[in-house]
Amino acid sequence: MAAKKAKPGPAGKTLGSKKSWQGRLTADADAATAEFVSSLDVDRAMWKYDIIGSIMHAQMLSEVGILTKRELATIRRGLMSIADDIGADKLDMPVELEDIHMVIEKALIVRPGAAGAKLHTGRSRNDQVALDLRMWARDAAYDLVQGIVELQRALVGLAERQGEIVMPAYTHLQRAQPILAGHAVLAYVEMLQRDADRLADARRRINVCPLGSGAVAGTSLPLDRNRSAKLLGFDSVARNSIDATSDRDFLAELCFACATLAVHLSRWAEDWVIYSSTEFGFIELHDAYCTSSSMMPQKKNPDTLELIRGKAATAIAQLVGMLTLLKGLPLAYNRDLQDDKRFALAAVRPMMQSLAVAAGIAGTARFRAEHIAETLDAGYLDATALAEYLVGKGVPFRQAHHIVGSLVARAAAAGKPLAKLPLDELRAASDLIGPDVYKHLGAANVVKRYAPQGAAGPKQLRRQLNFWRKKLA
Ligand code: ARG
Repeated sequence: MAAKKAKPGPAGKTLGSKKSWQGRLTADADAATAEFVSSLDVDRAMWKYDIIGSIMHAQMLSEVGILTKRELATIRRGLMSIADDIGADKLDMPVELEDIHMVIEKALIVRPGAAGAKLHTGRSRNDQVALDLRMWARDAAYDLVQGIVELQRALVGLAERQGEIVMPAYTHLQRAQPILAGHAVLAYVEMLQRDADRLADARRRINVCPLGSGAVAGTSLPLDRNRSAKLLGFDSVARNSIDATSDRDFLAELCFACATLAVHLSRWAEDWVIYSSTEFGFIELHDAYCTSSSMMPQKKNPDTLELIRGKAATAIAQLVGMLTLLKGLPLAYNRDLQDDKRFALAAVRPMMQSLAVAAGIAGTARFRAEHIAETLDAGYLDATALAEYLVGKGVPFRQAHHIVGSLVARAAAAGKPLAKLPLDELRAASDLIGPDVYKHLGAANVVKRYAPQGAAGPKQLRRQLNFWRKKLA
C-alpha cells in the first residue's frame, strides 16, 4: 500500500485535533505517520479493561478526596455510556487518537458533566496500558486453562470408553512394547495439566497492580494504590514504578505457556495424523473434523489436526517476537512496548481455537479396535516381557536380553511371532523356559502384567482414570 501523502498540519485548538492533547507539540502527524504510531487496530480489543480500570481509578480518586462524589458519578456514567457505544460499535475511533486509552478519554471529555478531564489525574498511559494488559492477560490465562480442561475431559472420556484396547507403543516410531490405548491418551492429559499449571503459576506474577506507577516515577498526589488494586481484583501492588511500567515479562511468560501448549498439541496432532492414516488405521476421526479433496473424491484428510500441528509455528514465533521486543530496552517505558500486544494476542487467540477444536476431535474420535488387533502380533512387542520372564527364572537381565535377541532373530527368519515358536525351540535358547512361558507371550498377556505405578496396564489405567475424574470434576 502506498504511504498516504498528507502533510503535517498546524495543531487545532479543539478536542477533535490530537495536538490539543499533546503538551508542547504544535503540529499534527501526517496521515501515514498517524497510522504508523497508532495501536488502535490491536488495543481496541482491550476496551473493556480500559473502561473498568478507569472507573476504579476514578473511584479511588474520589475516596482520597481528589474527585468529588458528583465528579465520580459523572465519570462513571460517561464511561458506562461509552462502553454501551463501543459494544454497539457506535463509537468513532479515529486513528489520530493513537490508542484505545485516548479514544475513551476523549469520548469522556466531550460528554456532558465536564469532569472527564480529571480522570487522568495521577495516571499515565504507561501505567494504564500495563494495567489493561495485566487484566487482559489474567483473563486470557483463565480462559486458556478452561480450554485445556475441556480438552482433558474429552481425552479422559475417550480413555474411559476405549482405554482397554491393547495397542503398540512406539519409540523411534518403531514398535516397542504393548500398552493400553488409554495410557497413550492419558500421556497427553498429563502434558496438558502441566500447561495449565504453568498458566496458573504465570497468573500469580500477572496479578500485580501497576496502577499508580504513573509514567515512570509514580506521583506526588496522595493515591491509595492498595485500594485501586483491591477494586480491580489484584493480589498485590507493584513495588517499583519503573519496573511496573516497563517490563513485560508477564506477557513473555504467557507466550511461553502458549508455545509449550502448542508444542504439546502439535505432538498429539501428529500422533493422530499418523494413527488415522490407512497404513496405521488406529483411529477413525469424525467426518466433521476432516476435509476431502477438490480432485480426489476418496479423500478424508485430517486437516484440523494438521492445522493444530501448524499453529505451533505461530505460537513459537510470538514467544520469540516478544522476547526480542524486550531485549536491550533501557528503563523505563519505550514505545517499542506498544507492539507487545500484537505478540500476546497472536499467541493466545489461536490456542483458544486449537483447544476448542481439539476437544471436538477427541470427543468424537474412536479407536479401531479390530484393526489394531489384526497387526498386534507384528513387531515382537512381547520381546522385553520374555526377557523379564527369564529374569523371573534367575537369569541376569543382560543375558536374558541376549537370549531373547537370538529368539527374535529365529522367529523373524521363520516369519512367526514369538508365541508361535514351539517349546523345544524356545528351550534351545534357554532350558529355564517352561510351558508357562506362553502365558507371558502375546501383547494382551504382557499388558496384564504391567503393575507398578506409571506402567501401561489395566490396574494403573484405572488408577489414572480415577485421579483425572476427580481432578477434572
Ligand atoms: N499506545 C501505547 C502502548 O500501547 C501507549 C502509549 C504510552 N505512552 C507514551 N508515552 N507514548 O504502549
